[in-house]
Amino acid sequence: MSLRLGDIAPDFEQDSTEGKIRFHEWLGGSWGVLFSHPADFTPVCTTELGLTAKLHKEFARRNVKPIALSVDSLESHKEWVHDINETQHCTVTFPIIADPDRKVAKLYDMIHPNADETHTVRSLFIIDPDCKVRAMITYPASTGRNFNEILRVIDSLQLTDEHKVATPGNWRKGEDVVIVPSLQDEGEITERFPQGYRAVRHYLRITPDPDSNWSGD
Ligand code: BEZ
Repeated sequence: MSLRLGDIAPDFEQDSTEGKIRFHEWLGGSWGVLFSHPADFTPVCTTELGLTAKLHKEFARRNVKPIALSVDSLESHKEWVHDINETQHCTVTFPIIADPDRKVAKLYDMIHPNADETHTVRSLFIIDPDCKVRAMITYPASTGRNFNEILRVIDSLQLTDEHKVATPGNWRKGEDVVIVPSLQDEGEITERFPQGYRAVRHYLRITPDPDSNWSGD
């Protein structure tokens, strides 16, 4: 059965460029971003891994550990990391899982046979500190992902875990949010949102980002 939001991310043990990974143990109470790419030494994947390396501080400030995967071998990954660092002017410090037996790819349904019978598509899972899958994003092999969008989703998840809000379309950290429709008690609203709110409709109540002490990107 395929994974759904709220499921526990399947645990696994597999080799990686940073040694053997026991996934849940490796997460260690942090958030995680597990993402597959179709193959080593391919152009789009090379740029994606370079971007992830360069966003290292942005992931760390959100307590998120990135981890990549492809069905290529560990030897291939290790050689490719040299190329990524050289061509993308970065230092890859996150692990890349070697999955030649497709164990993890199968667990996470990363192979979509009607797109490609043997290689993973661009699957991405955002996993919370309780090892629950909180977001899943799937891209085709030919389209590189926008890693700023991944950070934006993580910002939304972390904010909405903490406050009774949701984030509007195109929202970015620091911008106004909406109060969840289930919150109706005016006393609680005043307590939770001392800056007040603007009701455009009874179901659309806009309030400043409650974490507005964020220092920006
Ligand atoms: C790439 O990463 O560049 C790529 C991989 C598979 C198909 C097309 C592009």
